[in-house]
Amino acid sequence: MTKMKSLLDTGSDDFRKNNAQYREKIDELHALRLTQRVGGPEKVRNRHIEKGKILPRERIERLVDPGTPFLELGELAGLNMHKGVPPGAGIITGIGVIEGRQCMIIANDATVKGGTYFGITCRKHVRAQKIAWKNRLPVITLVDSGGAFLPDQANLFPDEGQFGSIFHQQVGMSGDGVPQIAVVLGPCTAGGAYIPALCDEVVIVRGQGFMYLGGPELTFAATGEKVEAEELGGGKMHSSVSGVTDHLAEDDAHALAITRDIVSHLGEKPLPRKTPTEPRAPAYPTEEIYGIISRDPKVPTENREIIARLVDDSDFHEFKPLYGDTIMTGWGRIHGHEVGIIANTGVLFVEAALKATHFINLCVQRDIPLLFLADVNGFMVGREVEQMGIAKAGAKMITAMSSARVPKFTIITGGSYGAGYLAMLGRPFQPDAMFAWPTGRSAIMGPEQAASVLAQVRAQINEREGESWTPEEEEAFKAPIRKEYEDFQGAYNFASNLWIDSVIEPCETRDVMALMLDVTSRRPKVETNFGVFRM
Ligand code: COA
Repeated sequence: MTKMKSLLDTGSDDFRKNNAQYREKIDELHALRLTQRVGGPEKVRNRHIEKGKILPRERIERLVDPGTPFLELGELAGLNMHKGVPPGAGIITGIGVIEGRQCMIIANDATVKGGTYFGITCRKHVRAQKIAWKNRLPVITLVDSGGAFLPDQANLFPDEGQFGSIFHQQVGMSGDGVPQIAVVLGPCTAGGAYIPALCDEVVIVRGQGFMYLGGPELTFAATGEKVEAEELGGGKMHSSVSGVTDHLAEDDAHALAITRDIVSHLGEKPLPRKTPTEPRAPAYPTEEIYGIISRDPKVPTENREIIARLVDDSDFHEFKPLYGDTIMTGWGRIHGHEVGIIANTGVLFVEAALKATHFINLCVQRDIPLLFLADVNGFMVGREVEQMGIAKAGAKMITAMSSARVPKFTIITGGSYGAGYLAMLGRPFQPDAMFAWPTGRSAIMGPEQAASVLAQVRAQINEREGESWTPEEEEAFKAPIRKEYEDFQGAYNFASNLWIDSVIEPCETRDVMALMLDVTSRRPKVETNFGVFRM
């Protein structure tokens, strides 16, 4: 047991200022979450309730076991993307416990543009399915949607990862034995009707849930046939005539109770492959992280102090502490679950990349999940490191990180840039889950560097063409680039575009990670085949 010793001075001016600034960021996160939790406009929510329907969040509350956590994913997807649409993109996705079993819950919010799917809504649905598929979580879809948001067709219709991928993944998941249940609580029209139709079991509410490939208006326009919605795709018809649905419920509450019953008959629950130890709180308060994270991007954060506040009892068995000291590697536990942590403590040098490679190799050998805490400006550049073969060393780290088939997670805690972002388990390397703290930032390079690089390119062109610019003109050229990069790199932009699964608070990190480690510990072990390590 190696208990970390904190050298933090919580009485310092720096701590106080960092802490004050971080708490403002937390307030901003809470305000954004609140707009998402409320859903559509009050008038529309009232109309929803007057129809005898339950609001989507309350539906989820009634579906899950009382007192169990619901880990919401993609809650800020679509933030500031479509006018009048709150963050969340009209759908709620997350992992909840039903009848003692972890499930992926996907719920349309009919109070947001009729629960229709924008491009980003499709991507959020697809992402939730991917997490469910990989972890073999049953998927419960609470359907209440007008289908495609027609003006956004370029982002939702033709391509992979859009609406059609929802069906494609449903079929793939089903083939792999992942249970899927749909609860039709409102309309599901056209393509949307295939979501329940491709499920194992479908519950529908009488007089409220409708499923049809073409609604009454479309049917009349296409064939001249006049038919009422109930007769065309109502719950009674589908449950007694077409056989499209399997269970007829009287209202939302009844439908959700039937769904819980279905989940209780999904067969044996998967057991964890690991035995967590007794959870212990870190020896130092986690909220001190607010005062540790540097408010100034030019001043690095002391990530050693952060790990001391994330792992159980601040017990961290560090690997190679004296070698490659711009990266920290070691083992600790989070709520009793063992995890291998890789955290940046500076720019990536050759030794750091080799150390990370060795460490990932060990975690794979021992079947221990990996957690990357990303806070890195990138790989070192220059003649010396090139001659030391940094490209080869970086390639080794990327090969190890990319090949590893143990559960792996990323949290962007500070600035994560360029190839450093990628090597620290960036999104293209398919982490099982990826989060950012409100201070998380990521881009190809920092705003100042991007402005300088483009200004240099411009200056060379000016020189070639015999022109020159004044310092004022150069600054006028740089300012909008800086601004664009600043807007791009923020955690909320990443969350809006679903490049991360959620923005989480440092203080929530242990709970979120414990839940994810528990979920991933219940899936079968997958062997890793490492790619070629160039020597
Ligand atoms: N595309 C774009 N916008 C849509 C839409 C669609 N498919 N369906 C609904 N909307 C918009 C409405 O214009 C309205 O926008 P507003 O808030 O800016 O006024 C909002 O969503 C709510 O629609 P509204 O009809 O007032 O809500 P409702 O609860 O009474 O009915 C539906 C919801 C989904 C049943 C109804 O809007 C409908 O039938 N839509 C068309 C469904 C369809 O044919 N889809 C085919 C897609 S392939």
